[in-house]
Amino acid sequence: MAAAGTGTGKLGHLYSLIIFLWLTLLFVQLELSESESATEDDTDQLALLSFKGAIRSDPSGAMSSWNTSLALCHWTGVTCTQQQQKQRRVSGLILESMNLTGTISPSLANLTQLTTLRLADNMLTGEIPSVIGTLSSLSLLDLSSNYFSGRIPNSIGQLSNLEGLLLFNNRLSGGIPSSIGNLSRLYECRLDDNQLQGEIPSSIGNCQKLNILNFSSNLLSGSIPKDLFGLSSLSYYLDLSHNLLSGRVYEVGLLRSLGYLDISFNNLSDQIPIRSNS
Ligand SMILES: *[C@@H]1O[C@H](CO)[C@@H](O)[C@H](O)[C@H]1NC(C)=O
Ligand SMILES: *[C@@H]1O[C@H](CO)[C@@H](O)[C@H](O)[C@H]1NC(C)=O
Ligand SMILES: *[C@@H]1O[C@H](CO)[C@@H](O)[C@H](O)[C@H]1NC(C)=O
Ligand SMILES: *[C@@H]1O[C@H](CO)[C@@H](O)[C@H](O)[C@H]1NC(C)=O
Ligand SMILES: *[C@@H]1O[C@H](CO)[C@@H](O)[C@H](O)[C@H]1NC(C)=O
Ligand SMILES: *[C@@H]1O[C@H](CO)[C@@H](O)[C@H](O)[C@H]1NC(C)=O
Repeated sequence: MAAAGTGTGKLGHLYSLIIFLWLTLLFVQLELSESESATEDDTDQLALLSFKGAIRSDPSGAMSSWNTSLALCHWTGVTCTQQQQKQRRVSGLILESMNLTGTISPSLANLTQLTTLRLADNMLTGEIPSVIGTLSSLSLLDLSSNYFSGRIPNSIGQLSNLEGLLLFNNRLSGGIPSSIGNLSRLYECRLDDNQLQGEIPSSIGNCQKLNILNFSSNLLSGSIPKDLFGLSSLSYYLDLSHNLLSGRVYEVGLLRSLGYLDISFNNLSDQIPIRSNS
């Protein structure tokens, strides 16, 4: 009884050893196939490391995980495309309210699958690199509440998938590029609280999905383009207050679904017509 017991015990050990080895092999194989099916992109890694290189200070250590010993999809603020795809690409870069100083490296242009770029509420300076126009997948560009200066690059008009353009509360100057009219999916456009000059481009009338528009607190002059009043999509709000806009505004009544309108603190000559009930 005892001998037989030992016999099955030995056999049991052998079986568990075999099963253990088999499971180990299976696991190793799974690991291999997973890393094979989901390699990360070297160009993306280089682009992010160059981006990090242009950040002068990162007091909260947000980017301390950005090193080559960690897979880049695990870096703080970096999101990637789905694991199922052959190659995981960077799809989002979100580093908000981190007190970052420095500039945006043009290397960012190599993150060609980027859909979300949110760097709001930092202390970033310099210009918005014009190569940003090559990020054709971008749907949200939020660089608000920084110290960006210079012009809004004309290439912004190439971002054909852009839905949110949030550049408010910076030091941007020059005109609003008329290429903005190429952004046919634009839903929210906030360029308020900058030093933008010149006229509002009439091409804005092509942004047929626009729902929220804030150009307040700039140095915009000239008249409000008629085409703006043709934007029937504008339903949330239109804020053009605190500029140097002049001329007549009687067409404002065309914006029938508008929920909120502010055109105060300008040099507009007409009174807004009150819509009558008849
Ligand atoms: C890389 O980042 C990881 C995660 O933050 C950290 O544990 C590791 O020490 C870093 N390695 C180097 C070489 O900085
Ligand atoms: C950024 O700086 C402010 C003011 O010095 C501080 O209150 C805040 O905690 C800092 N935030 C981070 C993420 O370090
Ligand atoms: C993009 O990546 C390529 C290849 O790594 C590199 O030669 C090029 O300089 C990069 N572009 C930018 C703008 O950094
Ligand atoms: C905007 O679209 C027009 C016509 O499709 C094109 O000629 C122009 O180059 C575009 N501009 C930009 C900056 O993409
Ligand atoms: C538009 O922008 C100004 C300046 O940044 C801000 O004060 C105002 O609240 C914004 N308008 C709306 C309706 O949110
Ligand atoms: C205000 O508008 C009037 C008439 O449209 C114009 O003559 C005047 O120069 C404008 N003032 C400013 C400060 O833009």
